[in-house]
Amino acid sequence: MVGHCNLIYLLTSLYLGTVVNGQSRVLSNRNDSYEAGIVISTEESIPENIHCASPYRVYNQASLDFAVNELIANGEYVDFWIDGTISGSTITFSDGTRMAVDSSLFHRKEPNGSGACIQLWYRYGEWKLDDTTCDDPQKYLCSAGIVISTEELIPENIHCASPYKVYNQASLDLAVNELLVNREYVDFWVDGIIAGSTIIFSDGTRMVVDSSLFHRNEPNRSGACIQLWYHYGEWKLDDTPCDDPQKYLCSAALLISSEQARPFQCASPYRITDGVSLNLAVSALSANGEYVDFWVDGVILGSTIIFSDGTFMEVDPSLFHVNEPNGSGSCIQLWFHNNEWKLDDTPCYDAQRYLCVN
Ligand SMILES: *[C@@H]1O[C@H](CO)[C@@H](O)[C@H](O)[C@H]1NC(C)=O
Ligand SMILES: *[C@@H]1O[C@H](CO)[C@@H](O)[C@H](O)[C@H]1NC(C)=O
Ligand SMILES: *[C@@H]1O[C@H](CO)[C@@H](O)[C@H](O)[C@H]1NC(C)=O
Ligand SMILES: *[C@@H]1O[C@H](CO)[C@@H](O)[C@H](O)[C@H]1NC(C)=O
Repeated sequence: MVGHCNLIYLLTSLYLGTVVNGQSRVLSNRNDSYEAGIVISTEESIPENIHCASPYRVYNQASLDFAVNELIANGEYVDFWIDGTISGSTITFSDGTRMAVDSSLFHRKEPNGSGACIQLWYRYGEWKLDDTTCDDPQKYLCSAGIVISTEELIPENIHCASPYKVYNQASLDLAVNELLVNREYVDFWVDGIIAGSTIIFSDGTRMVVDSSLFHRNEPNRSGACIQLWYHYGEWKLDDTPCDDPQKYLCSAALLISSEQARPFQCASPYRITDGVSLNLAVSALSANGEYVDFWVDGVILGSTIIFSDGTFMEVDPSLFHVNEPNGSGSCIQLWFHNNEWKLDDTPCYDAQRYLCVN
């Protein structure tokens, strides 16, 4: 989807608000129906990215290298949205996990506080991270990550659309990271058969054996199949006979969205910063008989709210329901609860509508 989604214009009866740099400015007594102020997206979506089940996450050198290899292979020399929002020295991913900014993954003099979204920026002939405003339509990098089979099979019975290919250090690290996260300390089939010093992958591509990806003294011509062998407390490759049933790794690796999109469903999500901007939204919703929950602008990190333009404010508990925010997620909704709308922190994966600024 490019540009604006279809929007329902809400007619506010009390005030007109506009939001500038994290502060709500009331323009009182202007023509309500002309400058509606708040609009609601007609579609339900997750806050950041409706185009990926799982936006691609760049969190270390391996995941950066992996994405860059893929983009070079696709001849895509442009900028891409990736997972995460940034505030100060913290990155928050769409599943609510966080990491400290690792500036070695960013271009020189970045991040520089120029926005809450993170892009893979093609600059100076290379892709590195950059913090930027969230409003440019550009393609996404998405990831199905690595899929671990639930069944144990011999390689010839493996039915992955795309068996996982370990072909360099980055793809090995990526698989290992995933297995560590899943605490799967066993052996896995990966893509490819090995003959002498050549590996032939299931898509017909080949590579010369890179023994640095294999355990010591491997491959030793003990079989035609390739496993990620958990041995000496680490996973590396091993050639082995093809007859053991074991789990396998599949991958959609990295998907590039075919469309350009903004990271938010609204060009400008509605921001609640004080009682006035809260009341404005509540009046608009009541007037329209909309007694459900809506996404509003911002992600929350501890006691700080970061808005999509990179500005931030301290949490004001009077704008939240009782006992909220309670750390249950990094997104912010206007929660219709106990017969009133107030803010609530919540995980980002529920599909619901947005309040947007016209
Ligand atoms: C308000 O805006 C509407 C739509 O442009 C216009 O028709 C109407 O005359 C305006 N009312 C006032 C009081 O300015
Ligand atoms: C921050 O970096 C962006 C490029 O990502 C640049 O356009 C902007 O001027 C920089 N801002 C500051 C304050 O240095
Ligand atoms: C090759 O390595 C395997 C372990 O993967 C081992 O069991 C086997 O004995 C080795 N074969 C030779 C000929 O060294
Ligand atoms: C936090 O609040 C949510 C409601 O928004 C509730 O479902 C959840 O159980 C609460 N979590 C804790 C740890 O109290």
